[in-house]
Order: sequence, then C-alpha cells, then structure tokens
Amino acid sequence: MNKELKILGVVAVFTLILYWGVEPFAHSQMHKHVEGEDFTYSDLKEVTVQGDATRGESLASACIGCHSIEVKGMPAPMDAVTSAQTYGVNPPDLSLAGKLLDEKFFTHFLLNPAEVTKSKHFSMPPSAGSEQDAADIVAYFKSIAPKEEVKPQEAYAFACGRCHANRYDKWTQLGHIPKTKENIKTGVDLDALEFQKNLGTYQNKLADYMGKLPPDLSIIARARSEHFLETFIENPQSQLPGTAMPRVGLNKEGFEDVMEYLEETGDPSKHAREAVGPYVLLFFVIFTILAYLWKRSHWKELH
Ligand code: HEC
Ligand code: HEC
Repeated sequence: MNKELKILGVVAVFTLILYWGVEPFAHSQMHKHVEGEDFTYSDLKEVTVQGDATRGESLASACIGCHSIEVKGMPAPMDAVTSAQTYGVNPPDLSLAGKLLDEKFFTHFLLNPAEVTKSKHFSMPPSAGSEQDAADIVAYFKSIAPKEEVKPQEAYAFACGRCHANRYDKWTQLGHIPKTKENIKTGVDLDALEFQKNLGTYQNKLADYMGKLPPDLSIIARARSEHFLETFIENPQSQLPGTAMPRVGLNKEGFEDVMEYLEETGDPSKHAREAVGPYVLLFFVIFTILAYLWKRSHWKELH
C-alpha cells in the first residue's frame, strides 16, 4: 500500500513538472500575451468640453448624407450595394452609436476616423470641425439612443455586421437572408436570386476595400478565447499588426452584447452545459468513493 502511494506520488510530481515546464512555455512562444485595457482607450486624451445635444442635432444633418438613423425615421440615402460601390462598405445605421460606442472614442473618431480606428482603409472622411462640434454630435447620439437594453443581434449588426457574416444565424453583410416564399409557381424564387446577386456584388466590393473578405464569425466564440476576442476587438492591431479591420470603439456594454451574440450563435448549448458541470463532478466524487469501498471489500478477502 505504502509503496503504491509512493509510486503514484512520483508519477504525479513528474507529470506536473513536465506539464508546467512545457505547456506554458510552448503557449507563450506561440501566442504573445496582450494585456487588455478594459475598453478605456487610454491612447486618446480626455475630452474636456461639454457636449450640447441641441447643437449636435443640426450638425448631425451632415451624417445622413451617408448613414441612416432609424430611431429618427431617417432612411439611408443609398442602398447597401450602391454604398459599397462608393465607400467599399455600407455605413452602419447610427441609432445605437451613442449607446454602444465609448464616448471618448466616438468624439475623437469624428475628428479623425482613419487615425482613431487605426485602419488606413477607413473610408469615412473627418466629420466634425472641432472638438466642441464632435462632443455636441456625440451628445446628440447619446440622447436619441434607446434607454432599454439592446438585443445582442442588434449590437452585432451595428458594430460588425457590415463586414462579417454569421452563417448559423443566416446573417449576411446585407442583413438576414430573406425567407423563401412558400407558393412560388415557377419554382424559382426571383427575390432570393436577386438577394444572392446583390450579396455577391457587395462582398466583392468589400473584399477589394479590405484586401480580403472578412471571415464568417459563426464559430469564432469556440475557436478563440474570450480574452483573445476582447483584446482583438478593443484593438485589432494588438493581435494582428497591419490588419485592415478597424478598431470599432465599443464600450464595455457593447462588447458584452456582441460576445453574447457570438456565444449564442456559435455555442448555443454553452449555458446548459455549464449548468450540468457541478452534477458531473458530484457524480465522479460519489463514483470514486463507491469504487474505493468496493476495492477494499474485495482485497480484504484476498490478503
Ligand atoms: C461621406 C460619407 C460619410 C459621412 C458624411 C459620415 N460617415 Fe460615418 N461612416 C461612413 C463609412 C463609409 C463608414 C464605414 C467605414 C468602414 O467601416 O471602413 C462609417 C462608419 C461610421 C461609424 C462606425 C464607426 C466604428 O468603427 O464603430 C460611425 C459611428 C459613424 N460612421 C458616425 C458618423 C457620424 C456621427 C457622422 C456625422 C457627423 C458620419 N458618420 C458621417 C461614411 C460616412
Ligand atoms: C470594416 C470591416 C470590419 C468590421 C466593422 C469588423 N471587422 Fe472583424 N475583420 C475584418 C477583416 C478585414 C478581418 C480579417 C483580418 C485579417 O486577416 O487581417 C477581420 C477579422 C476578424 C476576426 C478574426 C481574427 C482571427 O485572426 O481569428 C475576428 C474575431 C473579428 N474580425 C471580429 C470582429 C467583431 C467581433 C467585430 C465587431 C465588433 C468586427 N470584427 C468588426 C473587418 C471588419
């Protein structure tokens, strides 16, 4: 009995040393560790002026030359495909911008989009004349944003959906794939064909603009750790230097909404699985005790 325990101890110690020595080392060589900033955007200086939403409202009339603002009933000036032909990508609807973007990021972004998003590809021109104008526009978008919680899908559509499809949710860069009509007499759904054709044109323009088609994000929540996604979304350059993906500027709440969507679509049974975990552990504990008692009662007779 004593000897068995000693052997077990020696094996366990060597296994642990081996694991500890090799695994963290290999890991640190293959993935550099990126320290998160908790969405504070510390490279940008604090905004010192106070925003005035009323003034911001009139300044924001410049935005609707390219963007829709659905909460205000303002439609997009062009359809998504024409926008992509003009700007490389469809400018997002701005209803949620004041809620999901970090205030400091949003203010600096309006003054200098390409620099603040760290993306040389960013095709939106500077859209505020001074820090005061920018702060006023941001105050306006904060005032019109819905007060209630945003649906995870809407957060994704605003922040990521113009570039990234999500097959498991039937999401494309042009929105959800329309449902096939049930009573088509000819056997051909012309609307569906039209949609696919437009999607093809959009994706080609997007790929030209970005240098490649941004990947489908259906299973990214499984493929990458939450830490990777958090630091990557906070600053894509930290993980992929030179990447065309912009720093989107989400605040903590916006990031959590997007993550919830990615987890829901990529790993819908995650919550159920995690709830089962403690029961599985309990089962193993009880099973081990029973197995041990069983072994003792048998070996007693043999000795
Ligand atoms: C000339 C067209 C144009 C005008 C005017 C314009 N935008 Fe944009 N905007 C774009 C395009 C194009 C994008 C997407 C660019 C990309 O993703 O590379 C964009 C992106 C954005 C984003 C998303 C930023 C992110 O990365 O999260 C916000 C927010 C935004 N615009 C706000 C505004 C506001 C507010 C105004 C008015 C003050 C404005 N825009 C004026 C074209 C425009
Ligand atoms: C303006 C377009 C654009 C927007 C908006 C955008 N991305 Fe991307 N994203 C890209 C491109 C392009 C790549 C490919 C990057 C590369 O390979 O250099 C990419 C790559 C990625 C990757 C893959 C990284 C890897 O190596 O595994 C993830 C994850 C990702 N994006 C998440 C997001 C999320 C989440 C959002 C919204 C918060 C978002 N992206 C918004 C363009 C975009």
